[in-house]
Amino acid sequence: MIELHHLNKTYQVDGRQVTALQDIQLQIPAGQIFGIIGRSGAGKSTLLRTLNLLERPDQGRVLIDGIDATALDQAGLRTLRQQIGMVFQHFNLLAHRTVAANIRFALELAGELDASAMAARVAELLALVGLTEQAQQYPAQLSGGQKQRVGIARALANQPKLLLCDEATSALDPQTTQAILQLLLDINERLGLTIVLITHEMAVVRAICDRVAVIDGGSIVEQGTVVDVFLHPQHAASRNMVAEDGHAAVLDLAGKLHSVAGKLLRLTFVDAATYEPVIAEVGQQLASPINILQGSVGRIKDRPYGQLIVGLQGDVSAAQAAFASRGVRCEALAA
Ligand SMILES: Nc1ncnc2c1ncn2[C@@H]1O[C@H](COP(=O)(O)OP(=O)(O)OP(=O)(O)O)[C@@H](O)[C@H]1O
Ligand SMILES: [Mg+2]
Repeated sequence: MIELHHLNKTYQVDGRQVTALQDIQLQIPAGQIFGIIGRSGAGKSTLLRTLNLLERPDQGRVLIDGIDATALDQAGLRTLRQQIGMVFQHFNLLAHRTVAANIRFALELAGELDASAMAARVAELLALVGLTEQAQQYPAQLSGGQKQRVGIARALANQPKLLLCDEATSALDPQTTQAILQLLLDINERLGLTIVLITHEMAVVRAICDRVAVIDGGSIVEQGTVVDVFLHPQHAASRNMVAEDGHAAVLDLAGKLHSVAGKLLRLTFVDAATYEPVIAEVGQQLASPINILQGSVGRIKDRPYGQLIVGLQGDVSAAQAAFASRGVRCEALAA
């Protein structure tokens, strides 16, 4: 478990103060995949880098499994950093070393294994990320996805408890992104590793994150399960990001449609309710037709969801009760 308590960070730029982090309070449960989203300059990278103290906060505490990382001396910090792997957008591989030697580099730095133990560990990591056949190739001979697999293997070399990913898939095409996300999910499940990732791609969060925090202007403005934040964003910054995604949280069409469609409701289906003929049933029960105006369906990690805007001629509270009894959240939209 990682706990951030009242973190503040200010940079001096040309005699000006730039606030990068403001009173950050965050808890990241062990074993989860935790996403941090926010627009460019919001403070995502700064926040991620405070987790391994690459960036030292001006104020506040970083607790990792109860240990205050901000209070550690150099030796303590070195030990802590070995338990934290990091993956970067542009891979940061050593061009003159082979794939195997890039991965071995992390083991050499730690200096804990002899040559044969290192070779065995490198072979294990190559198999884990699916690069056994590329072991003797150089980074220039690899695709972007393969380079990122090397980056992930290197980050995992010293068996960290925590993996930090800064835009790990942002330089990759959609198909390669999916493959790398599957690898991260697999690592999370197989090794029980906690993953904190920052991304500007909402699809990444929907695909693999359990929880998400939204950072805006250096402050956390919203956090929760991905299902809650993506289907019911509360803060304007979260709404904008999720709306740009165009997938969830169907846009409010109330103004345009009210006159023709009757009262507007937003329905949110999650899990089992997604598969039931709820609209038809409630329409029959209320003896008034329900008109579907807009909708999106999809998956958040392994949970199916649907979100619809419907028009209703009948009684709103009766409809809300009927939907609620079938496990569907129903909100009346203001005209
Ligand atoms: N080393 C630094 N010196 C001065 N200012 C910095 C430094 N690092 C970050 N900043 C400033 O702090 C703020 C937050 O930057 P940060 O890199 O954390 O944003 P970000 O959310 O990661 O953005 P992006 O999505 O573009 O990567 C920005 O205003 C940035 O200019
Ligand atoms: Mg950044």
